Amino acid sequence: MIDRYTMTQVVSTGDFISISPSEFFYRNRQMAGFGNPTQAVYSTVRELVENSLDACEDAQKLPVIDVRIRRESSDIIQLSVSDNGTGIPEEHVPNAFGRIFYGSKYGMRQKRGTFGLGVTMAVLYGQLTTDSPVTVSTQMDEGHGLTYKIFIDVEKNEPIIESKHLSRRSGPGTDVSIRLNGDVRRAKSRIIEYLRMTAVSSPHARIILEFEDHDHLHFGGSSTTLPSPSLCTKPHPRGVDRELLRRLLADRGQKSLIEFLIDSFQQVGDRTARRFLRFMALDPKIRADSLTREDLSRLSNTLRRFDGFSRPDSRCLSPIGEFAFKEAVSAEFGVDVLTYAKQGPLEWEGHPLLIEGVIATDNGASQSEIPSLHRFANKVPLLYDASEGVLMKTLRKVTWSRYEVEKSKTVSLFVNVCSTRIPYIAAGKHSIASSTQIEDGALSLFRELGRQLGKSAVKSSQSKRNARRMREFTRSFKIIAKFSAELANRATPPSTVGLVKSLFEVDDHD
Ligand SMILES: Nc1ncnc2c1ncn2[C@@H]1O[C@H](COP(=O)(O)OP(=O)(O)OP(=O)(O)O)[C@@H](O)[C@H]1O
Ligand SMILES: [Mg+2]
Repeated sequence: MIDRYTMTQVVSTGDFISISPSEFFYRNRQMAGFGNPTQAVYSTVRELVENSLDACEDAQKLPVIDVRIRRESSDIIQLSVSDNGTGIPEEHVPNAFGRIFYGSKYGMRQKRGTFGLGVTMAVLYGQLTTDSPVTVSTQMDEGHGLTYKIFIDVEKNEPIIESKHLSRRSGPGTDVSIRLNGDVRRAKSRIIEYLRMTAVSSPHARIILEFEDHDHLHFGGSSTTLPSPSLCTKPHPRGVDRELLRRLLADRGQKSLIEFLIDSFQQVGDRTARRFLRFMALDPKIRADSLTREDLSRLSNTLRRFDGFSRPDSRCLSPIGEFAFKEAVSAEFGVDVLTYAKQGPLEWEGHPLLIEGVIATDNGASQSEIPSLHRFANKVPLLYDASEGVLMKTLRKVTWSRYEVEKSKTVSLFVNVCSTRIPYIAAGKHSIASSTQIEDGALSLFRELGRQLGKSAVKSSQSKRNARRMREFTRSFKIIAKFSAELANRATPPSTVGLVKSLFEVDDHD
């Protein structure tokens, strides 16, 4: 037998055990960004703020989020985040905080949350390091407020409700409080950077960060417009695989094949479905679950390859948008925002994909040959492991020298990748893995932004040259005017301002 706590083998070979998802992340917490006390504080803030932003977007409200960090001793802190979002239905609270891989964001819709893991990891870390439960107070639009204290049964991956009682909130929303072992001194600058970047990608949110009771920092609020809500869509047929097909058939396999296709997938109407089934030589009227194993295999392969389906519906995406993105970059960084560009909606593995970016310059010569890169995925700032991600790798493929960037400027790029599926490299969600479509989209975006940058550099050097020439002309014309006045015996020389101006107006048109 294997002692599961020490993993020492106490009896000879042959014993196998299965571990729960909670046990897996208990053993491998660094994979989810909880490897040490500094990372843990940063990741807890990040996971809680992300959830709050998602909840406010669902509620269609301008988010007001309060992050409070209080030190209890040199290494134990109390970290709380409150929001004015949807609140959480009573029956889901225990599992949402006490069961890994439980959540409401697995649908086909752009969300910051992806895995059903983030807040539960923070709860697990708090429990392991301080033996304290998470405290969750939540209230929905209707009904009363409730306060829970929840532990996780790590072996079973189940919540243990320590207490539950009615409580009052001033309105709908959620307040989550976790006691954990954390290094605030080291994590502080990361948290501030994260919230500053969050203010760029979610400029409609107002976030207050309170360190102890005295140190209050405010972020965001450069926009008062709610982003367009993302709608939940059905899967696209090109994103189907055998597992998805099996689940859909279990759910609605009793329908005729044609009804099954129309009901299960987006972009499949009656005409397209008939065309597809003709192409596959299958009878539209047979029951979907009567297909043989071979037919199903052929069906899933053909669905992925058939080019008669329109592109995935992009209404499930919610990008930052040109106006809000440009305003937020300039409000947060005080830089000159040159332009916004986007690529898409494109398609990747049956998912819609949109990549948007802003390029900005600042005075002060750059030490680097490539622009500095600020990455976001579904509006979540990605601050670490940049070099491993597809965006940095693609950025290095662009020949930036071609765009004649002004030597006296530093150039910054802000890029947001939106999709219903972001291929994160690890559960910590720090970088996006390589994929041809994302790489191609990002490359086109960088080149487009580079061209705009080059154009503005040419314009700026032209206007500098013109300004210099204008000064020279003004000086020379003044001398000529003075001499002419003397020759003509006039007391005052004629004004040359209009003449110089008209010369340069002609120049501008050229
Ligand atoms: N502040 C909140 N307001 C409303 N619902 C919340 C809030 N915090 C958590 N939830 C619910 O709890 C679920 C689990 O949260 P968790 O952070 O573990 O996973 P996730 O956000 O779905 O995905 P990810 O692992 O990528 O963060 C969420 O899907 C959401 O339904
Ligand atoms: Mg989350």
